[in-house]
Amino acid sequence: MVPLRIVAWGAGFFGRKWLEAVKARNDCELAGVVSRTPARLEELRRDLGLAGVPGYGSFEEALAGGKPGAVIITLPQTFHCEATLKAIQAGLHVIVEKPMAMTMDEGRAIFQAARDHPDRVVMVSQNFRWRPHTLTLRKAIGNGRIGRPGHIMFECRQQIRRKTVDAWREQMPDPFLLDYAIHHFDLMRYLTGEEPREAVGVSFQPTWSWFEGNAAAAIVTMESGLVVNYGGTMVSHGLETPQEGLITVIGERGTLHLDGGLQVRVLGQGEPEVIPQEPVPEGELGHGLAKFVDAIRTGRLPETHVGDNIRSLALLLAVVESARRGQAVTLADMLTFL
Ligand SMILES: NC(=O)c1ccc[n+]([C@@H]2O[C@H](COP(=O)([O-])OP(=O)(O)OC[C@H]3O[C@@H](n4cnc5c(N)ncnc54)[C@H](OP(=O)(O)O)[C@@H]3O)[C@@H](O)[C@H]2O)c1
Repeated sequence: MVPLRIVAWGAGFFGRKWLEAVKARNDCELAGVVSRTPARLEELRRDLGLAGVPGYGSFEEALAGGKPGAVIITLPQTFHCEATLKAIQAGLHVIVEKPMAMTMDEGRAIFQAARDHPDRVVMVSQNFRWRPHTLTLRKAIGNGRIGRPGHIMFECRQQIRRKTVDAWREQMPDPFLLDYAIHHFDLMRYLTGEEPREAVGVSFQPTWSWFEGNAAAAIVTMESGLVVNYGGTMVSHGLETPQEGLITVIGERGTLHLDGGLQVRVLGQGEPEVIPQEPVPEGELGHGLAKFVDAIRTGRLPETHVGDNIRSLALLLAVVESARRGQAVTLADMLTFL
């Protein structure tokens, strides 16, 4: 089978991770890397052993020179919409990093462009889904292990010091929500199989923060009435949780808990039990890439295609909007165009 030629647009911290994931697959090949900065391209080539892979100063040059069939966009999220629309127009299949957009207008533009070009696969990377412990937790909820869930608590504490190129994240308003929390909001939908109905959000700046305004809390009510209490920070001093956070799912017949050691336990049904996990051998990005390639080859939509992910984006932006307005936001009001 002819390998899928992929151009990587973005060559920073996460662009590197994607380049490694593409390199590891036999059904994909690198058509080039786009970066404005020749020194960064040189460093990448050296570090990742990409001697034969061309670097390009712009997407247009990569299109002309690399003849790609697909693009992976790892630019800062303020550029995701523009870049995704350009790539769809150029006839490429797209993986775009999370969050796919910064506003509902942008999300809607991508949604509509993907709908108007059904022959292109447009998928958002939500890699927290494809980890053994999150897959295990989802399966246990779906199998009815604790009966119907009624209350979920998410508690995420991270200490994020890594600098971004040109400080795009350091200067962002609401960086915790607009950069990190999309993973958790997407997981709320993925783990429960339910859509959110309403969100109440709070965003605030701890005095010691090295970001603009970054901690956040939210209460999300899902369609069944299931309530999710959510709290997250990127400026925790010690006591960090896993990236997904500690997740406690309380159901009618027991509790499921994802702990700090990434184990999933069932409690409240006699002796606590650790649920065995299955590995994801190709890794989380490899798994996402496999779903992408499968979608291109078979026409089956990948689970995080834009039509699905627009709902995770809407939940994120509902929390942002609620925090700004000081009142609850109804999800249906954000998604009138669906
Ligand atoms: N899924 C995950 O777990 C995960 C983890 C980390 C990041 N991400 C996502 O990946 C994306 C990139 O994050 P990152 O951490 O890789 O960022 P980064 O290290 O700062 O890299 C950003 C890349 O975009 C390029 N770029 C183009 N125009 C830019 C501009 N005007 N300002 C800043 N950079 C610009 C950068 O510079 P050059 O053009 O000079 O090369 C660089 O190659 C973000 O959307 C982020 O949310 C996802």
